[in-house]
Amino acid sequence: MLADKDRIFRNLYGRHDWRLAGARSRGSWDGTKQILERGRDGIIDEVKKSGLRGRGGAGFPTGLKWSFMPKNSDGRPHYLVVNADESEPGTCKDREIMRNDPHLLLEGCLIAGFSMAAHTAYIYIRGEFLHEAHRVQQAIDEAYEARLIGKDNVHGWDFDIFLHRGAGAYICGEETALLESLEGKKGLPRLKPPFPANVGLWGNPTTVSNVESVAVAPDIMRRGGAWFASIGRPNNTGTKLFCISGHVNKPCTVEEAMGVPLRELIETHCGGVRGGWDNLLAVIPGGASVPLLPAEQCQNLPMDFDALRELKSGLGTAAVIVMDKSTDVIKAIARLAYFYKHESCGQCTPCREGTGWMWRVLSRMVRGEAHKREIDMLLEVTYQIEGHTICALGDAAAWPIQGLIRHFRPVIERRIDEFTARAKDDFVLEAAE
Ligand SMILES: Cc1cc2nc3c(=O)[nH]c(=O)nc-3n(C[C@H](O)[C@H](O)[C@H](O)COP(=O)(O)O)c2cc1C
Ligand code: SF4
Repeated sequence: MLADKDRIFRNLYGRHDWRLAGARSRGSWDGTKQILERGRDGIIDEVKKSGLRGRGGAGFPTGLKWSFMPKNSDGRPHYLVVNADESEPGTCKDREIMRNDPHLLLEGCLIAGFSMAAHTAYIYIRGEFLHEAHRVQQAIDEAYEARLIGKDNVHGWDFDIFLHRGAGAYICGEETALLESLEGKKGLPRLKPPFPANVGLWGNPTTVSNVESVAVAPDIMRRGGAWFASIGRPNNTGTKLFCISGHVNKPCTVEEAMGVPLRELIETHCGGVRGGWDNLLAVIPGGASVPLLPAEQCQNLPMDFDALRELKSGLGTAAVIVMDKSTDVIKAIARLAYFYKHESCGQCTPCREGTGWMWRVLSRMVRGEAHKREIDMLLEVTYQIEGHTICALGDAAAWPIQGLIRHFRPVIERRIDEFTARAKDDFVLEAAE
């Protein structure tokens, strides 16, 4: 279990003052000027040393990503964009940071922004986060008032932070769709290259980072990259916010050490699986997009990027969705398929057509109204979508279905057998359109 002294998010549950005075009492904005005096490379090196991997889902090394911004200015402004869209189903961690400790994020913006020679940060917040948006804006106002940011601030690096509210589309969490949306256009992902570090917001060098990735930067700088790297294991370091929902007795968001065993996470912080551990059916370990894992694989499961990848799943956003044995697992995945169909922006044919096709076939499979050969056909379609689209929403739509077929094929087959046994002789299966 993570020691209290190693916690970064000390007001995760909002029990203390979230405003500037409270944040300062927890150590925020302490020695920020000295951090900036270490220079751009000094900050990036420390973040690299910490081993921090992006907390927005893909787990790309944060220090390396920040280092991609041009070293020498060609006259164009540089931007930091904070991804506060938090739209991955099951994920509810960034909102806790924003409503209960917003200054962690703001100080992180200044440090990260400075490290990439940006004088401006935009925080793109999910539209539904009204309360969080109010809090963050009040914290921004406080920071200007105290001259922590703004022109001629006490840190000697002019820096503006703007909060921008989205309108509630999942796709606007994808970083290039987010940039389009921020520019006032429809949130359609861009083809890459060019990458945002070269051509981002309004064509200028831009880095998009997740709220949690940015909010941990001040602590990494104050306590040292080596301290962060000492938690977890190599390539999977630091503390991490886990959001556990579904069939547990006490769903929660909690800061834990990277690599905490899943069972410990659920039993220590969530009061256990509803009906006991033996009542566990499956877990989606990293937000709706990653393949589920059956109970047998959850027994001794370290919750980190590499361990979950070895099992063909992923840590994603560390949103753990627990399903007990009362779950109709085909129906659960069909519901996710509906979500991806609904959220596809429609630019790429495999995603636009495939998400609807997969949802329709899965909906029949929920009732058992399918041929067994369609299971392989469905699997084949997921492979046709995966890796063949502009953005990763296509992959996200394919992976949960691959997980279902990999681990629960007999359940689908049984459902088909049951339906076939009941069906009238003249029953004709509806084509998959
Ligand atoms: C469909 C889709 C939705 C996404 N939604 C989010 C989101 O809500 N928040 C987020 O931080 N990243 C989201 N991402 C990932 C971002 O594109 C990007 O990788 C991330 O913001 C980078 O931050 P990080 O390097 O700190 O992880 C999404 C990606 C895709 C493909
Ligand atoms: S993969 Fe889907 S969501 Fe992403 S750009 Fe293509 S159609 Fe749009």
